[in-house]
Amino acid sequence: MKDKLLSLQQEALDTLHQSTSLSELNDLRIKYLGKKGPITEVLRGMGSLSAEERPIIGQVANEVRAAISEAIQQKQEKLEKEETDRKLQVEKIDVTLPGRPSEKGSIHPLTKIIQEMEDIFLGMGFQVAEGPEVETDYYNFEALNIHKNHPARDMQDTFYITDDLLLRTHTSSVQIRTMQNMKGEVPVKIICPGRVYRRDDDDATHSHMFTQIEGLVIDKHIRMSDLKGTLLQFVKEMFGNDTEIRLRPSFFPFTEPSAEVDVSCTVCKGKGCRVCKQTGWIEILGSGMVHPKVLEMSGYDPKEYSGFAFGTGVERIAMLKYGIEDIRHFFTNDLRFLKQFAHI
Ligand code: PHE
Repeated sequence: MKDKLLSLQQEALDTLHQSTSLSELNDLRIKYLGKKGPITEVLRGMGSLSAEERPIIGQVANEVRAAISEAIQQKQEKLEKEETDRKLQVEKIDVTLPGRPSEKGSIHPLTKIIQEMEDIFLGMGFQVAEGPEVETDYYNFEALNIHKNHPARDMQDTFYITDDLLLRTHTSSVQIRTMQNMKGEVPVKIICPGRVYRRDDDDATHSHMFTQIEGLVIDKHIRMSDLKGTLLQFVKEMFGNDTEIRLRPSFFPFTEPSAEVDVSCTVCKGKGCRVCKQTGWIEILGSGMVHPKVLEMSGYDPKEYSGFAFGTGVERIAMLKYGIEDIRHFFTNDLRFLKQFAHI
């Protein structure tokens, strides 16, 4: 019995010596020390031994078990350490390697122009207002003196959502919202940047979605010369001090009189070139004195108050300022285009 136990110990230690993984060790532990293992079996059969043999065999069995268990424990520690060393080796990080540069985004050229325009107008005492892109017929048309069946509705092909809901075709809707919020108070002096939508076929100069900046001033004694002075100051700051403007008579249902405003060509400085079609002038916005009916509908007495308004296309301004020849560049997100504005 004793010899059997000792040879079991030898056998276990030999196998142990050859094992190379933690899972093999585990198998070994179950095989020799487990409940169904040979040593447990010996201990269980102790009852059939003689009184003299029992303590001797019991002691040997316990020693053999301890020896195997101890050997397994040591081997396990050794394997675990090897495993850790191997991992440390494989997962070693070379802290001296240069890092991967992270791509830096840049501000979109339209956002840049909007920020620049906001700065210019804030400097003249304006505040920035906002309004929803999904509008009701009332704010986009009716309150701007554009009744149903008014031919001016054809000027702006509209995306309708329902009979009464639409995507705003201009930021002029914010004029009305602002007047209503101000409840007859003056001065009103706001600009409103925002997206607008029209059912246009997209080409180099048209986009079904574009950006406008609306301006509205209401107070006592506001005159057309205030409109002209404000816009002249704006174009000089935006395009340079030598820029001139000219006002041409025009028509909008919500302004009277109305004027289209041209800047002297930013490319040829008014001499005539391809960009200004040899005229020396480029149209940049629509404007006028707020129509008395519009004032009245939104709670301002036209006998007491007057005002001016203008609406300009931000893409147009950006195209002129940066020499961009196709409006679609603003919306196709080609990084080769966008990256050119990172340092401007
Ligand atoms: N809303 C007009 C347009 O989109 C521009 C405009 C605004 C004209 C304010 C006059 C006054 O064409």
